[in-house]
Amino acid sequence: MRFTVRLVVAIWISAMVVIAGFTFLQIQQERERLVNDLERRAVLLAEGLKEAIEPAVARGSTSRVEAILKKFGEPRRGLAVYDRFADLMVATRDLAPTLPPALPEVTDAVTKGVVSRGFRSIGDRWTYVYATPLTRDERRLGALAVVLDATHLTTAERDLWRDDAIRFVVLALALSLIVLFVVRGSVSRPMAEISAWTKGLRTGRPVPPPAVPDAGLFGPLAREVSMLARSLQKAQAAAEEEAALRLAGETVWTEERLKQFVNLRLEGRPLVVVSNREPVSHYWKAGKVHAQTPASGLVTAMDPVMRACGGVWVAHASGDADRETADERGRVGVPEDEPRYTLRRVWLSKEEEQGYYYGFANEGLWPLCHIVHTRPTFRPQDFAHYVEVNRKFAVTVLDEIREAEAPLILIQDYHFALLPALVKAERPDARVAIFWHIPWPNFEAFGICPWQRELLLGMLGADLIGFHTQYHCNNFLETVDRALETRIDWEHLAIARSERVTYVKPFPISVAPEFVEDPPPISREDLLRELGVGAEFLGVGVERVDYTKGLPERFRALRWFFERYPEYRERVVFVQLGAPSRSTIKRYQELQLEVEETIREVNAELATRTWRPILYLNRHHEHRDIWPFYRHADFCMVTALHDGMNLVAKEFVSVRDDGDGVLVLSRFTGASYELRDALLVNPYDLAETAEAIRAAVAMEPGERRARMARMRQTVREHNIYRWAGLLLSDLSRIPAETTGAPAS
Ligand code: F6P
Repeated sequence: MRFTVRLVVAIWISAMVVIAGFTFLQIQQERERLVNDLERRAVLLAEGLKEAIEPAVARGSTSRVEAILKKFGEPRRGLAVYDRFADLMVATRDLAPTLPPALPEVTDAVTKGVVSRGFRSIGDRWTYVYATPLTRDERRLGALAVVLDATHLTTAERDLWRDDAIRFVVLALALSLIVLFVVRGSVSRPMAEISAWTKGLRTGRPVPPPAVPDAGLFGPLAREVSMLARSLQKAQAAAEEEAALRLAGETVWTEERLKQFVNLRLEGRPLVVVSNREPVSHYWKAGKVHAQTPASGLVTAMDPVMRACGGVWVAHASGDADRETADERGRVGVPEDEPRYTLRRVWLSKEEEQGYYYGFANEGLWPLCHIVHTRPTFRPQDFAHYVEVNRKFAVTVLDEIREAEAPLILIQDYHFALLPALVKAERPDARVAIFWHIPWPNFEAFGICPWQRELLLGMLGADLIGFHTQYHCNNFLETVDRALETRIDWEHLAIARSERVTYVKPFPISVAPEFVEDPPPISREDLLRELGVGAEFLGVGVERVDYTKGLPERFRALRWFFERYPEYRERVVFVQLGAPSRSTIKRYQELQLEVEETIREVNAELATRTWRPILYLNRHHEHRDIWPFYRHADFCMVTALHDGMNLVAKEFVSVRDDGDGVLVLSRFTGASYELRDALLVNPYDLAETAEAIRAAVAMEPGERRARMARMRQTVREHNIYRWAGLLLSDLSRIPAETTGAPAS
């Protein structure tokens, strides 16, 4: 309250000073205007009368002068004529009795022969006196005085002060009310909320943090307090979760556990992650920079790990505003508002990106490793760029670990097969792992790659190579066995070459328990209304538009389902979220057309006046946008023709905290090895997939819940923190010169 009083008093004083200043100026101007007016009137009258009076005075005709004054005199306008000794000759009737014996203006006019003017009190009135000399043939005869009533000058002044005083009071009252209102709404209430929240925390109650107050008013302080609130609440929730898990004797990995594990096990050794895709890209949109999370399973998986562990993430800068948002070394804190790790961006030329990413990685290795019958294209110039870009990333990684002792390097994916050997050659003390996010085919399939030796030798530079499944590990070991001179230890899954040993092990990747931290408050009804859909059952698919994802097959299976079970027409709607991907590659352009054409065909064949079976939302969606689809769908379809893991399946399960929803899952995904309660399908078999859709919509709630509960248990236990913990644990225990298995 004291603060409000101080604020109000300050406002009153300021308003008073400002209004008084303005009033003073206003009075000055008004006075000037009125004086000019008096002067103008006096001059007009005096100069007009002079011509008539001068001859009469010269003649000594007092009666004539009297007659003239009588004619022009008025009660508020007195006239007086003086002789050459400044003695009064004649004056108008009202003026005569009040005139003092001498008027200084008249004396000046008579003695100096100049016009003289001034204000003075005559009788009980404030007057303006204008005296002009009377002459005849250059002979001074006396003076004419015009005496005008000037009391209105003081009245006007007083009125102005009074009006402005009223204005001041009204303004001050209005301002005081506004201040009270604003202070209460924007300061007192938020402060009370923050203090209630702080008190709640102090007493151990789980109080939700207050919403961010007016950032414009409180500025960075408000943001920081709210951030602090959120962090504390998260920390409190994590500690409670930990305690509960300990009490229950459970060993589930959490973000907190991974943090503690990293602190204890790595003892300050820095962690560097390398991937092609960056966790956040910045783009120009309508003159403003926007942050975007790419549609990438790798990013979904690695970002929570990096938030827990900290460290540096080296990645290709793919956004057109990436330079503007990073420092001169290409570094930027992530997340922006509360940095937990550093993103180090690497810029590539158009040619490098074309050859390394679109060319060798995505037209060569991608179709080589995914057995989906798209022929790989191998161009020597693409491979040359691939080598060049791997070297470029090696330089950046070496720069990041220059000062560090025995750092841990986690290289991600098929874009960097050569990187492990390049780093290890310079820094043998670094512990290097490469995790291959896509399938590894059998040795015959891989053997068609003209540079298989270079790729394998590059990968064997790593101390540890991870795949999603044991099956992919076996394929890799067999490929190495056939292609290189090495010794394979099948018992320990290790490859020995010269003095170096590389371990090969499955680490099934997963998701964080929370897909988004604060899900949007959108109900199923809101979602359907927004989509303009009135269906009883909602199906959903979430993918990059990639030929490995089995999109056309999925839509054909849906057609099959509606043909086989017409009773579901107008009752089921399938929404496909498709993020555009690698769209400069011809095969992806063809796929985009095929997807659109297939959807058009199915809709054209089945749609009614009020219903369309498939809705295609072909654009990038942030996690917060995807969440309502996962959360409110009756079933989710993952029909990849071949996939290393497929995190969409696990994301769907992790979001379903209502315990409901059915997952239709391709048996050719790594996820199908873990999520055995999904309805597993061969996506090439349209009839089987259609039957699975029918089973999903017809499934009894009890069975749905039982299946979902088991899948949620799997995803909860085998989460991304466990994946990272096990991988880092194995990597950190590898001795500098690898000659034997890491101690178990
Ligand atoms: O599955 C392999 C992978 O690199 C994933 O890690 C990622 O989700 C996906 O491909 C994205 O591909 P890109 O980065 O080329 O868009």
